[in-house]
Amino acid sequence: MKPLIFVDRRLPLDVLQYLEEHCTVKTWGKDEERNPEKILHYLQDVVGFFNSGSVKIDNKLLDAAPNLKVVSTMSVGYNHFDIEQLKQRKIIGTHTPYILDDTVADLVMGLMLSTARRITELDTYIKEGNWKGNEGKKLFGIDVHHRKLGIIGMGRIGEVIAKRATLGFDMEVMYYNRSRKPEVEAQLSLTYVSMDHLLEQSDFIVIMLPLTDESRNMIGKEQFAKMKNDAIFINASRGGTVIEQDLIDALQHGQIRGAGLDVFAQEPLSSDHPLLALSNVVLTPHIGSATEATRYDMAKLAARNLVHALQGKEDAHIIKELL
Ligand code: 8YV
Repeated sequence: MKPLIFVDRRLPLDVLQYLEEHCTVKTWGKDEERNPEKILHYLQDVVGFFNSGSVKIDNKLLDAAPNLKVVSTMSVGYNHFDIEQLKQRKIIGTHTPYILDDTVADLVMGLMLSTARRITELDTYIKEGNWKGNEGKKLFGIDVHHRKLGIIGMGRIGEVIAKRATLGFDMEVMYYNRSRKPEVEAQLSLTYVSMDHLLEQSDFIVIMLPLTDESRNMIGKEQFAKMKNDAIFINASRGGTVIEQDLIDALQHGQIRGAGLDVFAQEPLSSDHPLLALSNVVLTPHIGSATEATRYDMAKLAARNLVHALQGKEDAHIIKELL
């Protein structure tokens, strides 16, 4: 008997067919309105749940899924998992690491360039018919090449950002991480520094950490006060690692020069959110991994993880806390 699973998002046809080869697949009806309550209904009798990466895997959901054995998220981040509950209920949780690292790193470089060279702001400036040709310094930005980049969190994505910055932009890269990465330091001439040194010396500060109890609210008033007035702050990891109101204050009061943000405390951003009004901020709607190729690879890997975990195989990218 094929295991019964629920898939909460549309999938590329060949990925769905792969799942149907190994499982009995339940998913949304063609024009069915999707909501969290309905997911609870669909989960009543399944042993596997293919999760798009944003549905909270908490007590309420797990209580509604008494037969659940595996939840596979189509994301590298899994802060939406209640890990203690998964442990207690002996449910396997899997995620999709590695395959999105370069795609997210590209966006981080894009946010650094867009903020430093005011690309989105000046794109709007032209499109609103303002370009006269005599603006001179009014259009000036700041350089990215040969500047100091500080990366908070030297995991896989941090490493490929550092590679782009050193090899592609001749940047001087320093990093702060729980543990030192001597091999990456040697390979890319990185400097391991204290958090304070990184905050005080960097021209660009990129935070690239998973959201955990340790990283929650890691960057707030105190940290922004240590940054250079000309510094640019980039966050494409999780909004919860930053105290957002403190970031807004730092931007409004010129404590830092600007910010490039792909993630937020609440997503999507409300239409009256104060960040929308700031010209020294570049905003993107959580698109770090959003390329056709990478999202296809993520769907494929999440499907494979689900099937392999249901088959008891170990190569299912089980989250480390559950190993
Ligand atoms: C996901 C992400 O698309 O992988 C992650 O951790 O943040 C993105 O790639 C997002 O989580 C989906 O909600």
